[in-house]
Amino acid sequence: MVSGVEDRDEDENPQKSEDFVVTPWTVKGEVDYEKLVEEFGTSPITPEIIETFQRLTGEIHPFLRRRIFYSHRDLDDILKRYESGEPFFLYTGRGPSGGVHLGHLIPWIFTKYLQDKFGAELYFQMTNDEKYFTSDKLSLEKTSELAEENTLDLIAIGFDPKKTFVFTDTGYMKTLYEIGAKIAKHTTFSTAKAVFGFENSTSIGMIFFPAIQAAVSFLPSVLKGYNIPCLIPAAIDQDPYWRGIAREVAPKLGFYKPAQMHSKFMPGLGQGGKMSASQPETAIFTTDSQGVVEKKIRSSFTGGRDTLEEQRLLGGRADICPVYHYYYFLFESDDLELKRIYDDCTSGQLLCGDCKLMLASRVKNFVATHARKREDAKEHLDEFIVEDLSGGLTKRSERKNP
Ligand code: TYM
Repeated sequence: MVSGVEDRDEDENPQKSEDFVVTPWTVKGEVDYEKLVEEFGTSPITPEIIETFQRLTGEIHPFLRRRIFYSHRDLDDILKRYESGEPFFLYTGRGPSGGVHLGHLIPWIFTKYLQDKFGAELYFQMTNDEKYFTSDKLSLEKTSELAEENTLDLIAIGFDPKKTFVFTDTGYMKTLYEIGAKIAKHTTFSTAKAVFGFENSTSIGMIFFPAIQAAVSFLPSVLKGYNIPCLIPAAIDQDPYWRGIAREVAPKLGFYKPAQMHSKFMPGLGQGGKMSASQPETAIFTTDSQGVVEKKIRSSFTGGRDTLEEQRLLGGRADICPVYHYYYFLFESDDLELKRIYDDCTSGQLLCGDCKLMLASRVKNFVATHARKREDAKEHLDEFIVEDLSGGLTKRSERKNP
């Protein structure tokens, strides 16, 4: 292992709970989300905050209604500022280590929704350096290539090119380094070690890297010359960067502390655990063929019983079933319809085979539509990517056609 991050001794892991682990690089076991709120010191998204969303957007997004986005830092504050006329920008990202799966799309779909509703700019970081540091298989050239591939998925979600700025760390390092250096100066190794569990075997690239992921929280403020509040939607595994680094140094550097919205993890198709690229047979990738999607869903673990008789008698266990959770996360937005699926399953009327077939048809549809948009995105890459070459926020397209 190159970095010492992926294979560290979990007993020394500061975010370890008794039966699960959540770090930016490892998610293991049955995650107790309420316990994470306590451990990380975040706040639950309350009915009052959801009401504010409803007042501002005229609706409640299913991800909020269903508590898929369930925890936050300073969200109430950023919404208050917005209401009093101070807009925020959005920041999220991707570590390009392979293909994009449906789990990655959860924060992106919600970020796109927030961009539409709040008219916010999005700064999207592709951490090609991080994935190079933490993998002993991927070259820097490969992670850079994957960053461009993954950008197609991002564009396919429908972000507004005028308000969306995508960059790789190496492609935008001049700009990022100036902020990262200031963050690094105020962050000790002892803090980084406590927050991320770094060890002697961790690459020094990885030890500096958190300053670069934190840097984007302040990027627009630096580029535009005035303080702009930042809202970061992501799954809760990314919280250490904000808790331990960005929010700690923000007051020292004169910036607002970045606010966050944390999501739960979309599960994989196996028994327990999040959807993860390291288990490709239980993850659905946006580039999977229709046949592969169908096969993966047909082979999914379910909450079904051993025999048909038992299933009819006792009903299925929707709560532990990834197939049901796929409806819950992405594939049934109507709450009444979702309840019907739940009730039919748990009462033994809906059998796993039929339930999987219905899901497979919805997922295949979704993936086919996404694949078409992803193909179209190839024409638009340059409208989204910013690089240092011309400085500031100059898009590649603007460089070519001034
Ligand atoms: P990465 O590539 O591991 O994940 C990208 C985004 O997807 C979220 N995520 C999931 N969400 C729901 N269900 C899942 N199963 C699931 N798996 C992953 C992650 O939380 C993340 O939001 N270091 C980061 C890249 C990054 C970043 C950021 C992410 C740079 N700046 C700012 C979020 C916000 C990474 O490797 O993400």
